[in-house]
Amino acid sequence: MANVVVVGTQWGDEGKGKIVDLYSQDANVIVRFQGGNNAGHTLVVKGVQTILHIIPSGILHEGKICIIGNGVVVDPKILLEEIDQLKERKLFPSKTKLFLSQDAHLIMPYHCRIDTARENKKGAGKIGTTGRGIGPAYEDKVGRCGIRAIDLLDKELLHERLRRNVEEKNFMLTKFFKEEPVDFEAIYKEYSEYGERLRPYIADTSLIIDEELKKGRRILFEGAQGSHLDIDHGTYPFVTSSCTIAGSACCGAGFGPTQIQAVVGIIKAYTTRVGGGPFVTELTDEIGERIQKVGREFGATTGRKRRCGWLDMVMIRQSVRLSGITGLSLTKLDVLTGLDKIKICTGYRYGGETITESVPSDLKVLAKCEPVYEELDGWSEDISAARELSALPANTRKYLDRISHLSGVEIVLVSVGSGREETIVLKNPLRGI
Ligand code: GDP
Ligand code: IMO
Ligand code: MG
Repeated sequence: MANVVVVGTQWGDEGKGKIVDLYSQDANVIVRFQGGNNAGHTLVVKGVQTILHIIPSGILHEGKICIIGNGVVVDPKILLEEIDQLKERKLFPSKTKLFLSQDAHLIMPYHCRIDTARENKKGAGKIGTTGRGIGPAYEDKVGRCGIRAIDLLDKELLHERLRRNVEEKNFMLTKFFKEEPVDFEAIYKEYSEYGERLRPYIADTSLIIDEELKKGRRILFEGAQGSHLDIDHGTYPFVTSSCTIAGSACCGAGFGPTQIQAVVGIIKAYTTRVGGGPFVTELTDEIGERIQKVGREFGATTGRKRRCGWLDMVMIRQSVRLSGITGLSLTKLDVLTGLDKIKICTGYRYGGETITESVPSDLKVLAKCEPVYEELDGWSEDISAARELSALPANTRKYLDRISHLSGVEIVLVSVGSGREETIVLKNPLRGI
């Protein structure tokens, strides 16, 4: 029996959705613990694609418990739409239960408005957020004026909290951003209705997790974003507003660290980034363009083109350290097929020294870092039908060996296509083998 945390090791979109869906076969409970609908997790099952923004990626499996933990910021409109769409497409199994933590904070219409207004005001220096109101919602949570899921069930309290918030946010919107105000009555009515619809899902999810743990059930914790978008450890301020590393699972779901047996880091065979911020190994040439095209690197949430570059092992080593990663799941290896040479960044050259363990926090230093590359021979064979390591070309296996060696962590899974079955499973962390 093992409870496993899955986290992204880069800047998000590593393929967490695919791997969590696959691992969910061996889990009883699947829990999202941070982020919000800035996430876009793609699942492809029998050729059918589903993109989840807020519901855990275990939802397609029958008989599971899916939990949106207290650490997630939830846009109730998006959550309800996602539930409706899954039900319409008959993808919400009848014996699978979905719960929303009573303590999860809500994304309100003014959060989205402030997010966008702030980005517009920043102009060229903008973060490139998803515009989903994530930052402003977390600000209110930490500022102790946020509205939680449970607050939707108490009309009087909702009225009072909302009134205070709207007063303050409208001051900001109209006086500072010179924008239109939001309408208190309209939001109150809209969110009161959401409360009624969400009532059956709202629960003390920390307690549910504890009950399941006591029954010896396996729990899978699904991270969103990636380690280098972490609010503390990422390339600040070009980050998201939550803690994206494995430790965040405990705070964002309400259980103790002694319950975690394994941490799987999802690593894309190259690097991508959506939005602004430094990117040492970025490729602005035809190779970058090729990876973007072949890998269909468009944001699953905003549809924006993802910036592409070579794999950066400085980032990965830091992610391994931050999350105590015990195994790596490597995705999108097939995308590199056909490249003559493949590069891995093993360090950053800065001022005559080589940095290998940590991405510099000082963005001025980071901007001056030059990638140190190791060059490997590529492969031309189609690898998408491979289901075991021995079916991979020798050069592909060399690439995997280098990644494992440079990260100091074993590879437990290799993904060679977007489909659930397009996978080479080497170890199963949930079964502890
Ligand atoms: P997430 O946010 O980490 O869940 O990743 P996204 O879903 O945003 O982006 C990953 C994209 O790559 C999705 O379109 C997946 O369907 C796709 N994908 C996942 N694994 C593989 C793989 O091994 N090969 C290929 N070609 N595509 C993959
Ligand atoms: P998944 O879970 C990739 C990025 C945004 C922006 C920065 C801040 O699918 O991997 P935010 O809206 O969070 O305030 O934006 O973070 N970002 C992501 N990039 N994948 C994600 O999620 C992301 N969620 C946020 O593009 O640069
Ligand atoms: Mg994504």
